[in-house]
Amino acid sequence: MKGLILVGGYGTRLRPLTLTQPKPLVEFANRPMILHQIEALANAGVTDIVLAVNYRPEVMVETLQKYEKEYGVSITFSVETEPLGTAGPLKLAEKILKKDNSPFFVLNSDVICEYPFKELADFHNAHGGKGTIVATKVDEPSKYGVIVHDIQTPNLIDRFVEKPVEFVGNRINAGLYILNPEVIDLIEMKPTSIEKETFPILVEQKSLYSFDLEGFWMDVGQPKDFLAGTVLYLSSVAKKNEEKLAKGSNIVGNVIVDPTAKISPSAKIGPNVTIGPNCVIGDGARIERSVILANSTVKEHSLVKSTIIGWNSTVGRWCRLEGVTVLGDDVEVKDEIYINGGKVLPHKSISTNVPQEAIIM
Ligand code: GDD
Ligand code: MG
Repeated sequence: MKGLILVGGYGTRLRPLTLTQPKPLVEFANRPMILHQIEALANAGVTDIVLAVNYRPEVMVETLQKYEKEYGVSITFSVETEPLGTAGPLKLAEKILKKDNSPFFVLNSDVICEYPFKELADFHNAHGGKGTIVATKVDEPSKYGVIVHDIQTPNLIDRFVEKPVEFVGNRINAGLYILNPEVIDLIEMKPTSIEKETFPILVEQKSLYSFDLEGFWMDVGQPKDFLAGTVLYLSSVAKKNEEKLAKGSNIVGNVIVDPTAKISPSAKIGPNVTIGPNCVIGDGARIERSVILANSTVKEHSLVKSTIIGWNSTVGRWCRLEGVTVLGDDVEVKDEIYINGGKVLPHKSISTNVPQEAIIM
């Protein structure tokens, strides 16, 4: 089987992390975001994976090559000279996606869930339509593509409305599809939106179905949702693979800690925290609902709450970080500093308080 991951875009909504690292390589639960997807595709029997990118992919090529062997997949980079949107990349990768008659998967690179690809393929093959969209329910559907059903035929999609201005329903496109190769014939080789241009044609042809996702789902393309997605992911790990969670008298609730991290026994970590490789957490530090990326240090008696600490950063002693604060790569926060909702660009040193949401350049 084959799969294409839409990796384009600059990940601007996940700045400052994406100023130094392409979004798909930002670690979610201590592994590059895209690796969660590559692994799930491989487990479902996919052998050919296309990564559709619209920037120079050198860093990604280097990082991902080693996983081809590990997961037994071939990874091809399909590079656009201008951004081709969410449908154009399928046309560009036509050769690989049409190499046999079997349907192929398409994934938005920023969605996290339990990826039920096998069940999706079975469902798709059984209904006989040209495409199937994975659907999930959300409270705030206006940010997404909304699916409206045919009353007579269960799961047949009657309308697809991308980013609706008026409420039409709360079942949304989870950003995961399986499509027959012939769908590529509906796409022209130019910037095209699959949501706005291709899906409406399939709806018209009564050939687009939806498959209900079980369990959690989150688009983790912005900091607030990245943290919320981490919480959901950790509770799913707690249910399925509890052995992956950290244990200890200084750990509360669902926490993942890389084995190379050093955490003081008098620190208190959790719930809902991930701590990356080579991190150091000092005496009496308190961390909750936060993501600490590789090689970062939180010194003694600091509180880190609802915060993402980028790589190679240092938080001093007696600091307080909260309110969806995000530190970029190589940031230094001096002792006793308060940051509430600050987004700190890479290589900065912070020596005055940031009491309100602000971008620190
Ligand atoms: N290769 C390539 N080229 N990829 C692109 C391009 C492009 O020009 N533009 C966007 N992408 C990728 C993004 O990197 C992302 O993985 C995916 O296409 C979707 O783009 P987003 O910018 O994240 O879209 P969205 O989150 O506003 O909406 C989409 O996702 C929702 C689910 O999270 C839509 O598919 C919605 O219908 C859906 O509900
Ligand atoms: Mg998105």
